[in-house]
Amino acid sequence: MERIFGRPIVTQEEMRARIRELGKQITSDYTGRDRGLVGVLKGAYAFYADLARAIRISMRVDFLLVTSYGSRAKTSGKVKIVTELTEDIKGKDVLLVEDIVDSGLTVQYLIKALSKKKPKSIKVCTLLSKPERRTIDVTIDYVGFKIPNKYVVGYGLDYQQKYRNLPYLAVLDVADDQE
Ligand code: IMP
Ligand code: MG
Repeated sequence: MERIFGRPIVTQEEMRARIRELGKQITSDYTGRDRGLVGVLKGAYAFYADLARAIRISMRVDFLLVTSYGSRAKTSGKVKIVTELTEDIKGKDVLLVEDIVDSGLTVQYLIKALSKKKPKSIKVCTLLSKPERRTIDVTIDYVGFKIPNKYVVGYGLDYQQKYRNLPYLAVLDVADDQE
């Protein structure tokens, strides 16, 4: 599995340190609020588990399972919620946890869908962001790492459903994989 991953882009140590910081910031921002943490599966599963444990206040934990049509690297804008939330988020302060924000289409779609359930607020926390690729102007409240326009795998992120369990984040060593 390791063979094609020459370049770790974020190491496990860097990840741990940054998630600790994010957890602190979220803890202070959400103290005293009626809060819920919504993880977007599959990609966010690893980050979500680590982030949730870095937050030092009790959060309701829930998940959305989402698929997007289109090639592995590009979302077509058609996002489908495959598994819905199990908790009621009405009146709650919701923090949406994503693996990566690329064009911004998925996050935009999810914010719209969640807004219909009348939460008090929705903020977005993403482990990774590729600002160069953004076509939609979405507000991302918490960003773990800004990364260049490269296709990355590991720590939850996949290439054709593979490599999600790689414990660090690596650039996929295949030319033109964004095409
Ligand atoms: P967006 O809708 O264009 O912002 O794309 C977001 C989704 O595309 C993510 O949730 C991932 O599933 C996928 N994605 C974008 N870039 C990468 C990457 O570098 N590696 C793995 N998945 C990616
Ligand atoms: Mg995702």
